[in-house]
Amino acid sequence: MAQIYLPTDHVADRSRLPSFEQYQDMHKMSLDEPEAFWSEIINEFHWQTHPTRGNFMSYNFDINKGNIFVKFMEGAMTNVCFNVLDKNVRNGHGDKIAFYWEGNHPEDYSRITYAKLMELVCQFSNGLRDRNIGKGDRVAIYMPMILETVVCMLACARIGAIHSVVFAGFSSDSLAERMSDCKAKVLVTADGAWRGTKLLNLKDTCDDAMEKAKTKYNHTVGMCIVVPHLERVTACGKLPHDLRDLYKWNDDIDVWWHDMVEGQSTICPPEWMAAEDPLFMLYTSGSTGKPKGVLHTTAGYMLYAAATFRYVFDHRDKDIYWCTADVGWITGHTYVVYAPLANAATSVMFEGTPFFPDNDRYWSCVEKYKVTQFYTAPTAIRALMKFGEHNVKRHNMTSLRVLASVGEPINSEAWLWYYKLVGSNRCSIADTFWQTETGGHVITSIPAATPMKPGAAGYPFFGVDPIILDNDGKEIKGEGEGFLTFARPWPGIMRTLFGDHDRYQEVYFRRFPGYYCTGDGARRDEDGMIWITGRIDDMLNVSGHLMSTSEVEGVLTEDLRVAEAAVVAKPHPLKGESLYCFVTLGEGATFNDELVDSLKKRVRHRIGAFAAPDAIQYAPGLPKTRSGKIMRRILRRIALGENDMGDISTLTDPSVIAQLLKYRAT
Ligand code: PRX
Repeated sequence: MAQIYLPTDHVADRSRLPSFEQYQDMHKMSLDEPEAFWSEIINEFHWQTHPTRGNFMSYNFDINKGNIFVKFMEGAMTNVCFNVLDKNVRNGHGDKIAFYWEGNHPEDYSRITYAKLMELVCQFSNGLRDRNIGKGDRVAIYMPMILETVVCMLACARIGAIHSVVFAGFSSDSLAERMSDCKAKVLVTADGAWRGTKLLNLKDTCDDAMEKAKTKYNHTVGMCIVVPHLERVTACGKLPHDLRDLYKWNDDIDVWWHDMVEGQSTICPPEWMAAEDPLFMLYTSGSTGKPKGVLHTTAGYMLYAAATFRYVFDHRDKDIYWCTADVGWITGHTYVVYAPLANAATSVMFEGTPFFPDNDRYWSCVEKYKVTQFYTAPTAIRALMKFGEHNVKRHNMTSLRVLASVGEPINSEAWLWYYKLVGSNRCSIADTFWQTETGGHVITSIPAATPMKPGAAGYPFFGVDPIILDNDGKEIKGEGEGFLTFARPWPGIMRTLFGDHDRYQEVYFRRFPGYYCTGDGARRDEDGMIWITGRIDDMLNVSGHLMSTSEVEGVLTEDLRVAEAAVVAKPHPLKGESLYCFVTLGEGATFNDELVDSLKKRVRHRIGAFAAPDAIQYAPGLPKTRSGKIMRRILRRIALGENDMGDISTLTDPSVIAQLLKYRAT
């Protein structure tokens, strides 16, 4: 049985939620009387048209009863940007630091107050409006971790445009596909950025992507706005003499960021948005390979982001909060941008990597900024563990109070290292389980209120009612393991997939009518804690990045030498999971190092470096059932190095197993 860790006095002292009983009472109220529960936080925000009572939430999760829908606070009008900037400035936080920006190079850093951020956002908003970008238009963002990224997202929110951020590690193909799917009118990027000593040639990738959008998807992106970032930061590697040699410039569509904002007023009236108007979309991998444009709306997302941040990080006025996630992922959207700003928090925004210029960069920043809450991913913790304790111990990290984790299950060894070494046995750890689709944390511990167990995600957040179902869709009450689902919405859950409501209904609501199906397995233990047991679909989680096996398979079979490909997850000590690929070859093709190399490169190039396979093995044939379905269970065992394949009675041709064992990749 896993050991229980209770919150220490260091955390409980002055906490806004200091006991488990209080958490339980509030959780019960959040389910029994949602409107009353959320009213306190609703009242903190500005509503141009006030919500009407009795109209708090309506939904249908049962696909057999008609269209799936979720609506919160219908009739209310507000603006998220106004609430996270103007409201804070009006409440006296204008001079408060919104972000400490720490660049890739330790000598590059800056800070910005709420008042200044508001001015920049207004200027950029006016610039967008001048160029005819307005409510409902899609704005693609392919940016490094710089303040302009936040400015751009908030400017979109201010004028009602829907931002669609694409992580700047994605390839030009992936960017082209995403921009075309949402028909982005404009793309915002930077000339480039450093990650460690590696130069990211962002504008060049954008040029490729815009070209591919045109030729492959017949979509023209009308304008590309570029931040000249490289000239203002320390070079961390080789650069051409003239930075303009890094990319092409086309006066018809390319515009410098400063030309957009120059001369613009620092006042910009917000677009008042209905509660259910879209705020942003963000693509996440889908198991068919085509990315899904998860759509979040205005009021519910804002409330939920604000509330989760406040309780899960136990946020207080003087705290310095740091989330290391990139803004290109949902964690960056909610917990770098919207949630901290909605709480008038001061955050650190970090452009670099944990390993540059040294492997103690995270800890030196914790010391430098006196960080109180630190939020990162298990894959980073595991990577840092291997550099030894001295990297941590030589920094003063006594400011820390709450540590948090996200993206994948945290193994107990990493949890204990985080708890004991980084948190000096006195900080709480919140292992936050959530998804792009959930908008914010749904299962987590709450620092001073709930006990913790290494590896367990913990308890539901307010408004969240997790239901574990067995294979037949029957609820498992009490202890047990099955599919993690939810029978009712909370304010921050996604509303649809952009332009494809049918797919939304099919992917999330078809398997168990009446329930939102997360795609994850879960176990409830004897203390009511929930453990996430991993994906139950064909998805892989590599270093906290979700991707679909079929997406990678599709790329492998683009090589004409490959006849068929199957990809499975293999446990990996640092990445959590890695990609292990099986390929069968077409007539006349030979399996050799050159092929393996070019397939690996192809995946990096087509999807992004984070998707690069670890192993590619030759397969004379793939194990299939009589109906032609690939038996991935067998492939996973081969990848794991096992020799016993379990029950193979449904296999059409059992002789493939001996062959697969023979060619196993090392
Ligand atoms: O499988 C779960 C895993 O990551 C998936 C969601 O990925 P994405 O939409 O990219 O969002 C990641 C950041 C919120 C989930 O379905 N996952 C995320 N957090 C955890 C987790 N698995 C276990 N424990 C977690 N804390």
